[in-house]
Amino acid sequence: MSSFASSWDKFVGVLNMATAGWMPGRSMKTEFVDMKGKTCLVTGSNVGIGYEIASKLAKSGATVYLLVRDPVKGEVARTTLIDATGNEDIHVRAIDMGSLASVREFASTWDSSVPIHVLINNAGMVTSKYLKTRDGHEITLQVNALAPHILSLGLLPVLADNARIINVTSHAHYESTLADLPADDPNHHTMLGGLYKDGEGIPLSRTMWLYSRSKAVQMMLGRELQHRLSASSVYGPKKIVVHSCQPGFVASTIWEERPDTQDHGTERVRATLKKIVGILASTSEQGAVTPYFLASSAPAKEVYDFGYWDRKVKRVPGQPVLNESLVSAYWDACTPDKDSETLA
Ligand SMILES: NC(=O)c1ccc[n+]([C@@H]2O[C@H](COP(=O)([O-])OP(=O)(O)OC[C@H]3O[C@@H](n4cnc5c(N)ncnc54)[C@H](OP(=O)(O)O)[C@@H]3O)[C@@H](O)[C@H]2O)c1
Repeated sequence: MSSFASSWDKFVGVLNMATAGWMPGRSMKTEFVDMKGKTCLVTGSNVGIGYEIASKLAKSGATVYLLVRDPVKGEVARTTLIDATGNEDIHVRAIDMGSLASVREFASTWDSSVPIHVLINNAGMVTSKYLKTRDGHEITLQVNALAPHILSLGLLPVLADNARIINVTSHAHYESTLADLPADDPNHHTMLGGLYKDGEGIPLSRTMWLYSRSKAVQMMLGRELQHRLSASSVYGPKKIVVHSCQPGFVASTIWEERPDTQDHGTERVRATLKKIVGILASTSEQGAVTPYFLASSAPAKEVYDFGYWDRKVKRVPGQPVLNESLVSAYWDACTPDKDSETLA
């Protein structure tokens, strides 16, 4: 795929983000599909886009699992969703993407008699600090890319035929260039570890750099997973599909300050961000439209192999995602042997 096609789709993505929130007629409609009998898991579904995805799935009659790091928040979301949709088949499960042990435990204890039809890796974050997880990874990379990858691999044995894995990624992945993604240092500890101490504040440019990089890695791992599943004698016949999608520029809690990870620094930054989000961003409901479309649509050829989707349209992703040798190197670096056993 040409770099022109990728650059063009990046440009279209910018236009989409700049116009979707305020231009009349730019709202996307959701075509609801009957999903009774489908078991759907959504990470990070207590708020924001994940909550709205769960809401659409619940309205469709699916069995919905809210995978959240704080079960108390999850319970509040579950009760609100039941009231709003009338679907009582909604459940809360705890998972912390900042801990690979938590992710592995969740996957290994899933009841194998309950096949999963849809896994939506939505949980994500940005941080204004350089933080390492207890697993030793830079936190944005782990929460946005490594943990969902390990979760997907862990759940492969319990995925139903025609199951879908949907990674909620970001247009920001386009900002991560080949130079930003050295194959021998996926964690970027050697690039950043010398610059910042664990817990130290980082400039906004670095925050965005870490976020873009994590989303590019998430997509690279998703693309390679699709390739390996299709080639596998066990999973090939099951026709499992892995998608990546951009939800749009959305006014969710991701832009808010958090004591542990997100400090906007000055009042000026705070006010500017609030203004930009207030003017341009669309709603979390709109952010959920494309993930729901991918989770629910009939298996037409177009939605039946790996794609990067923006506003329900398949787009050409950034260059690193198209670079097969880099993708393969990242797969090797980000996939511990114990997690890839099921694919061997
Ligand atoms: N908003 C946008 O403009 C935008 C644009 C492009 C892509 N995205 C992507 O869309 C996805 C959803 O984001 P959002 O905008 O809805 O953000 P959000 O409102 O901040 O929601 C993020 C969700 O992820 C969860 N989460 C964060 N860290 C976690 C961890 N360590 N373990 C488990 N769950 C964790 C949060 O849980 P808590 O509530 O407990 O923190 C929350 O449920 C993310 O992947 C994001 O990168 C968003």
